[in-house]
Amino acid sequence: MIPQDFIQQVLDRTDIVALVERYVPLKKAGANYQARCPFHNEKSPSFSVSPTKQFYHCFGCGAHGTAITFLMEHAGYSFIDAIKELAAQVGLQVPDDGKRIAPEEENRRDKLYECMDAAARHFRQALKTHPVAIAYLKQRGLTGESAARFALGVATDEWQPLAGVFADYHDALLVEAGLVISNEGKRYDRFRDRVMFPIRNERGQVIAFGGRIMNKGEPKYLNSPETPLFHKGRELYGLFEHRRAIQGEDRVLVVEGYMDVVMLDQYGVDNAVATLGTAITSDQAARLLRLANEVVFAFDGDAAGRKAAWRALENSLPQARDGKMLSFLFLPDGEDPDSFVRAQGADAFKKMCTQAMPLSDFLFSELSSQTDLVSEEGKVRLATLAQPYIAKLSQAPLLMRALRHRLDILTGLESPQPFADRSRSTGRPRQFNRPTGAQGRGAVQPSSWRILLQALLHDPTRASRMTDLPEVPGLEAEAVHAVISLAREHPEMAVRDVVEHFRDRPEQALLTPAAAETMQWDENYDIEADFLGALETVMAQASRIAVEALSGRKPSELTDAEKARLLDSLKSRKQS
Ligand code: UTP
Ligand code: MN
Repeated sequence: MIPQDFIQQVLDRTDIVALVERYVPLKKAGANYQARCPFHNEKSPSFSVSPTKQFYHCFGCGAHGTAITFLMEHAGYSFIDAIKELAAQVGLQVPDDGKRIAPEEENRRDKLYECMDAAARHFRQALKTHPVAIAYLKQRGLTGESAARFALGVATDEWQPLAGVFADYHDALLVEAGLVISNEGKRYDRFRDRVMFPIRNERGQVIAFGGRIMNKGEPKYLNSPETPLFHKGRELYGLFEHRRAIQGEDRVLVVEGYMDVVMLDQYGVDNAVATLGTAITSDQAARLLRLANEVVFAFDGDAAGRKAAWRALENSLPQARDGKMLSFLFLPDGEDPDSFVRAQGADAFKKMCTQAMPLSDFLFSELSSQTDLVSEEGKVRLATLAQPYIAKLSQAPLLMRALRHRLDILTGLESPQPFADRSRSTGRPRQFNRPTGAQGRGAVQPSSWRILLQALLHDPTRASRMTDLPEVPGLEAEAVHAVISLAREHPEMAVRDVVEHFRDRPEQALLTPAAAETMQWDENYDIEADFLGALETVMAQASRIAVEALSGRKPSELTDAEKARLLDSLKSRKQS
């Protein structure tokens, strides 16, 4: 562990502006620096870096953080590596490779571990002579073996069940460990009259407890507070017990409750872990993805379950990696894994797990349910809703592409910048002659690439005039390029042949509606004029992108021709 004050020291000497500048060209804007956001695709800059706050924030997609976060989220560093990198940049040496803690602190932690261990042993011992707790666990279907495997115990119904365990009940350590509460001079145990689930770290040391009330009462579960040993957003219940099985199966199941983990284990499902009363954090998702290639999140089928699942999705998107699989399992209403496995058995449970919904399906099904996919407005809304989520897949570029692609198909919009051309309208009334009736495209103007595609479908011989088109990402542009090369090979081809050629290929989802639309054009529609306009727009766009790339480089790296080109473009920009 790297000491907190060392991290602070590194951050104090780091300038986030200089750091970000190495990855993203920044422009001064008032007190801050601006850029187009590196975490999502956009045309106008909504990404802002504050030199005074040493913080970045994107108003478009919500990405934000410190220099450390930036290196982790943008450059893919782990936390430790990010600190090492920053430390190296400011000339500091990470103490002992980041593993050593100050001896006094280490000593104190050891003592905390000892307290937790002594308490756990006491609770466990107490269970053996506690008929009420034993009856409670039996009635829940738990075997003695399971109770032993998870080291369950009981905190008895007194004010100070732990009073006899520690030589000094008034030691501040017990409060720090979260075992004892000190209130207006009075001291009493945090856990009383509860079945105790010890939470162990990956080395098997007890770091916290969850205590379940045996009868009615609030709260149903009481958990240890955050302590130097326990951070609930980081730990996972069952990870110590199930680590090997998880690695062996290459799959981990994430459930909501302690009892779910224990009961699944009893039925032979030994790859489950539980979060500790919170939504899964990004940190937890990252840990699990390091252990296994597949993570299945299990939730109740009700509204609360879907809401929790959505938060899990939001937090795990930044951790997704190509080749890993995240999926969501929704249990029948009113069931949790504990009740399900008891009623239906392990095979039925495992079978259900194989039907978990892939993250991409869950994302689109949730967002689609918030929009209508019939109107153009609804499709555009889906696109605007989905973009910020897709942008979070920064560590999974292929998955990101696949989702963009799927979004294209669902919406028929250009990707990744669906509004680029429309917001920069040339003023030409492009839509003027196009049908706007019942089946027209309504308020949404077609993008330049779509016009090119239609012009090409309308008359494939146009391909000969479409040389040097830029390669830009997006399904529409890719479709244009594909049709151009096809048309060059077969100049005699008709629209129908083009559409047929692309059957069962991703381009088809775009080609068919585009072709259908050309058939509705009214005979006065001047497609040639729009074609030339669109051609001009994409060529201008390409040169703008090229110039931006040039201006991002150091003048000393540019050839004379490149410098001239840059100068030219700057001049023409000033004039316009
Ligand atoms: P649930 O309310 O779904 O309970 O809480 P459960 O796991 O099914 O518990 P049983 O079967 O009734 O014993 C799920 C998880 O949420 C946290 C606990 O971690 C629990 O396991 N929780 C719940 C709390 O932290 N406090 C509570 O009061 C309730
Ligand atoms: Mn339950």
